[in-house]
Amino acid sequence: MSYKILLLDDDRLFLKSLEKALKREGYEVKALDNCREAIKEVESEFYELIITDVRMPDMNGLEFIEHVREIQKNGDQSQVMVITGYASQEVPIKAVKAQASDYITKPFETGEFLRSVKKNMEIAGLEKEKLRYTQELEESNRKLREARDLALRNERLSAIGKLASGVGHELKNPLTNIRNSVYYLQNYLNTDEPEVKEYIETLSMETEVAERILSDLLNFSKATTLARERINICDPIEEAVRTSNIPQDILVESALPDEGCFVEADYDKMKQVFQNLLSNSVSAMPDGGTITIKAECKENSVEVKLRDVGTGMNKETLERLFEPLYTTKQKGIGLGMSTVRDIIKHHKGEISVESREGEGTEFTVKLPLSQSL
Ligand SMILES: Nc1ncnc2c1ncn2[C@@H]1O[C@H](COP(=O)(O)OP(=O)(O)OP(=O)(O)O)[C@@H](O)[C@H]1O
Ligand SMILES: [Mg+2]
Repeated sequence: MSYKILLLDDDRLFLKSLEKALKREGYEVKALDNCREAIKEVESEFYELIITDVRMPDMNGLEFIEHVREIQKNGDQSQVMVITGYASQEVPIKAVKAQASDYITKPFETGEFLRSVKKNMEIAGLEKEKLRYTQELEESNRKLREARDLALRNERLSAIGKLASGVGHELKNPLTNIRNSVYYLQNYLNTDEPEVKEYIETLSMETEVAERILSDLLNFSKATTLARERINICDPIEEAVRTSNIPQDILVESALPDEGCFVEADYDKMKQVFQNLLSNSVSAMPDGGTITIKAECKENSVEVKLRDVGTGMNKETLERLFEPLYTTKQKGIGLGMSTVRDIIKHHKGEISVESREGEGTEFTVKLPLSQSL
């Protein structure tokens, strides 16, 4: 590898002879007789070694070195050799202060000069090598950290998955019993008593919420299977709206095609998708507002857009939205959106999101239309 040298001396003859000697040794040399041009050169090129005379016409050589250090403060540093005409102690001290790496006093023999240059070049080479090793080390450390974080995360997720599957199965039966009992009571009482009606409705809604959380948990532990059939996607959407706990100050406006849109899908899972999306929109709208749901049949797919005018999401949340266990809520589990994504993916669909902080969020779910149309 050839190293580059920037050589500065105002004595043109002397400059020429040093340039020649250096080129004979195989170095690439740029020879200049003023500091102004040299500064421009340093700004645009990296030289492993800069050799400068102290006494230059337009600037003191030591001042020039300070400029060089300033230019290179955030990057690779050149070795700097100072040529001085004085055999005093003062110049070397000043040179060291200006962060020169070496100095040589005039008059000197070419051989002595070249040996000095060689020594400085070896240092420059070592510095480069050191920099490369440091960068490699930092890179391996970063990869190691990432691998460790991933392993920890996977271990954690798998432990939670096992727990979720166990607890989920245990809760499934009691919840089904509660739901059946509520249904029985509803029919048996068949009352117009507003308070009783309200209690029964609350029981029914809360069971639905518990079942939704349970489904998220089972989905997360991969303990579920798909039961696909030909369904009108508007049906689970309507049921999700009906069974979700929507506060009075939130209005849900649905625009669903009368003729329906048919897909091959698991009805309950689709209901869960829209319940999860609705639940998030509701939590994002503490001051109320309107949630709009629009379904449209395209050539080969159905596109459902669900828009809210809630808090919206910042960059980090948008990036981590579908990550299992990512939540910004005090009481959230962080499984809602990862479940939604898994379900859509298993139906060979797509989900995308657009969100602006303080303005709201829009999810677009795309599913392939049923082939048997
Ligand atoms: N419509 C939305 N508007 C604003 N933020 C949202 C919206 N949907 C999701 N988020 C953000 O994404 C995060 C993850 O959502 P996700 O549904 O996965 O979990 P969660 O709602 O926090 O908990 P849960 O498991 O109970 O659903 C939320 O905590 C919230 O910060
Ligand atoms: Mg959620």
